[in-house]
Amino acid sequence: MRGSFYEGFYDKIHGGTRGGIGRGVAYRDIVRDRGEPHCVTGGGLRLDKYLSEAAVCSRSEAAKAARAGKITVNGGRVTSAAVQIDPETAEVIYFGKKVEWKQFTYVMLNKPKGYVSSTDDKGPTVMDLLPAECAKKKMFPCGRLDIDTTGLLLITNNGDAAHRLLSPARHVKKTYAFTVSSPVGDEEKKRLESGVDIGGHISAPAEIELDTPESGRITITEGKFHQIKRMFHAVGTEITELERVSFGPLTLDKGLAQGEYRELTEEEEAALIEAAK
Ligand code: URA
Repeated sequence: MRGSFYEGFYDKIHGGTRGGIGRGVAYRDIVRDRGEPHCVTGGGLRLDKYLSEAAVCSRSEAAKAARAGKITVNGGRVTSAAVQIDPETAEVIYFGKKVEWKQFTYVMLNKPKGYVSSTDDKGPTVMDLLPAECAKKKMFPCGRLDIDTTGLLLITNNGDAAHRLLSPARHVKKTYAFTVSSPVGDEEKKRLESGVDIGGHISAPAEIELDTPESGRITITEGKFHQIKRMFHAVGTEITELERVSFGPLTLDKGLAQGEYRELTEEEEAALIEAAK
């Protein structure tokens, strides 16, 4: 399993430089060693919540560390993790290491078969493939892939962006590589491209590129339950393999084997935020 995401968290916790377009920590209002009333900028977020959201430690660990004098905020030692800090500007040092705080995290997972796209299920979920920090940061899959579908799944804790990217009104493009059980002829291709009845709903126009009569790529802008399986079923064939290769501006990283994940690059993150505007 590729470890870059965990290392990303390690960097964030231990002062690495990797950032992202999220909010960083600014050096402002630094008051050295004068104690809580001077160092705490106020406003925003409790220190223990900040540290747990940054996946540095749990809230109870934060409380212990503060009591032991192991946390400074803007140069001043704090004795309680209940203090409010401004996450945008506070410089927090935990056991001598600068904390990098970022409000949202975005991960690209190459989903394997056998995992449910959910945070909570009886069987294994895609969250089981990610470090525990992701659940702590309240990350969730942006949309669903069927249990037997593989490929690009975005996992984030940016609920607003996820909601907008999934909104049918936004027509975000999703491309899937497919294999089917019997040939797709010109007639079937045309029908799929212009829209077919998938049971009480006519699918929106789709783009199809065939590599062979039984395989190719389909791009859709909708996300109905079993959408692509139902579309191909409507023209008399069945999907045997389905892999999502792109989602909006994101393309599945070919370097990720199934089950592997990585954080989005700054460019990918910026493109995603733009697509969600
Ligand atoms: N369409 C499907 O049928 N299944 C998926 O997982 C995604 C799109």
